Amino acid sequence: MISSPLMTVMVDAVRKAARGLKRDYGEIENLQVSRKGPGNFVSAADRKAEEVLRDALMKARPGYGLVLEESGIVEGADKSHTWHVDPLDGTTNFLHGIPHFAISVGLEREGQIVAGVIYDPAKDELFVAERGKGAYLNNRRLRVSGRVDMADALVAYGSPYLGRGDHPKLLREVAAVMAVSGGIRRFGSAALDLAYVACGRSDLYWERDLQTWDIAAGIILVREAGGFVSSADGGAEPLAARSVCAGNEHLHGDLVKLLRRANA
Ligand code: IPD
Ligand code: CA
Ligand code: CA
Ligand code: CA
Repeated sequence: MISSPLMTVMVDAVRKAARGLKRDYGEIENLQVSRKGPGNFVSAADRKAEEVLRDALMKARPGYGLVLEESGIVEGADKSHTWHVDPLDGTTNFLHGIPHFAISVGLEREGQIVAGVIYDPAKDELFVAERGKGAYLNNRRLRVSGRVDMADALVAYGSPYLGRGDHPKLLREVAAVMAVSGGIRRFGSAALDLAYVACGRSDLYWERDLQTWDIAAGIILVREAGGFVSSADGGAEPLAARSVCAGNEHLHGDLVKLLRRANA
């Protein structure tokens, strides 16, 4: 485990918000569910968890800015630090009673992600990483998978909401990956998709049309676990591109090439 004042702040905030999510899970009739757009739901569970996170993070680090999925941007006096907060990643799973969702908090310092915490309350799995200090799941040090052959690889991906993103392009990519990989999955939480690459459950993951709060924490988890993360097009700045291609050192480049060929 990582013991630092920063990690304590992040883990305490996330665990506190998770208590509300655990209470709300399965209580859909009381959650004031509404739509932000087609297929894109939000509920009182998302909003309450975000409030807890915002209050805890602002109290512990008053000057830092925040980018919050549900309530937008809070400017801070300290321009070099920004939290990227997803209070409930996998809202669709949550509202359908599928126990695969997470809270994700990442900290950006001078343009670089320096710490990330992702917590899956249904499985009680806490993923943490801090720059230079490694990545952990509960108390176990993480390392990405060692698979070298695409034919053995489990590849996760994500798809954009109804009416958003380029679905025909994604279908070309999915067909190309399906044709050569060991298996393909759509789990429904971008944060956990990255955490699963970090802990070696998935060998690869790609997705476009994301937001910084979906991926900030996951990017540092994968990197601290020895993996590679680029944008889906292979670029060096996934956070700015709001897309990801993540995997171990053997397979990451193969997936980038495969996606490029599928779109050529
Ligand atoms: C969504 C999930 C999903 C991904 C979407 C995200 P939300 O986040 O991470 O896996 O495919 O692009 O928006 O809305 O449940 O926090
Ligand atoms: Ca959402
Ligand atoms: Ca999200
Ligand atoms: Ca969310």
